[in-house]
Amino acid sequence: MSSELEGIRFEKRQVFCLVRTRGLCCTSEGASAMSCFKVRRYQDEDKEVVKEIFALGMSEHVPTSFMYVLKQPLIQMVLMCIFCSLLASSKSFLLPVLAVTLLLAGTRQTVSYLFMSYIDASLKDDLGCIKKNYLEKKDSCFWVAESEGQVVATMACVPAKGQEECLELKRLSVRRNHRGKGIAKALCKVAADFTRDRGYQAVVLYVSVVQTDAQKLYEHMRFRKIRQFLFPKLISKLTNFYIFEYRLEVQESSAS
Ligand SMILES: CC(C)(COP(=O)(O)OP(=O)(O)OC[C@H]1O[C@@H](n2cnc3c(N)ncnc32)[C@H](O)[C@@H]1OP(=O)(O)O)[C@@H](O)C(=O)NCCC(=O)NCCS
Repeated sequence: MSSELEGIRFEKRQVFCLVRTRGLCCTSEGASAMSCFKVRRYQDEDKEVVKEIFALGMSEHVPTSFMYVLKQPLIQMVLMCIFCSLLASSKSFLLPVLAVTLLLAGTRQTVSYLFMSYIDASLKDDLGCIKKNYLEKKDSCFWVAESEGQVVATMACVPAKGQEECLELKRLSVRRNHRGKGIAKALCKVAADFTRDRGYQAVVLYVSVVQTDAQKLYEHMRFRKIRQFLFPKLISKLTNFYIFEYRLEVQESSAS
């Protein structure tokens, strides 16, 4: 973030930002409440709260992912076939209802397990040592947003794998009770400015099909959806669990 920058104005939400020596201070005047937050670089004492905000932000997608999986035609067909064949063979409703209930519970547990495994791996991997993985690496950074002295949001940037001209925006998460105040928009702006200042062409990021709030945010920030793909894992293919790649060109226009 260039320190000479002053008075960036986010028209729609009336967010005014002033760059200070240690961070970006924003005042967001919403319809009902007024909130003030500051964006600053991560410090070691933020470690635990950063991990908590990330874990909470990811784990809230478990119920929506479960519902998404249930809506897939293949899954519905499998459940229907099991129900009908058990009904035909047992001539009783109890067994098929029990079997389908158990399958639903098993699916819910599997979805939860996959998310928890991802969260655990991330906490041990890059979030295990944020200083080493983000602050001490070239063209990488980790920021937090602070409101009333509390860390309420996180975000990181790293060089994108396989795309030399891009930085990747990662680990964006805002505490539930601080959402809708423009914090994520301010963080996206910080990422765009950081990327531009470092001479990169674009910010890229990956978001899953169930993260609809994040998709709306990125589209609002003029990111373009450039690709969608499935992980090579069988479970992703069976459930159509798409990942979207978004891209924001920062050299031709800035996020607003
Ligand atoms: C996605 C997320 C970061 C948004 O944070 P936020 O601070 O509430 O976002 P903002 O207040 O800055 O909102 C910015 C814009 O995003 C869109 N948006 C965000 N949440 C929305 C929602 N629930 N419904 C509709 N639009 C939404 C809107 O366009 C909004 O702008 P507007 O209010 O002027 O219309 C937050 O919901 C979150 O942390 N989710 C869980 C973690 C996650 O999924 N992270 C994304 C990783 S890729």
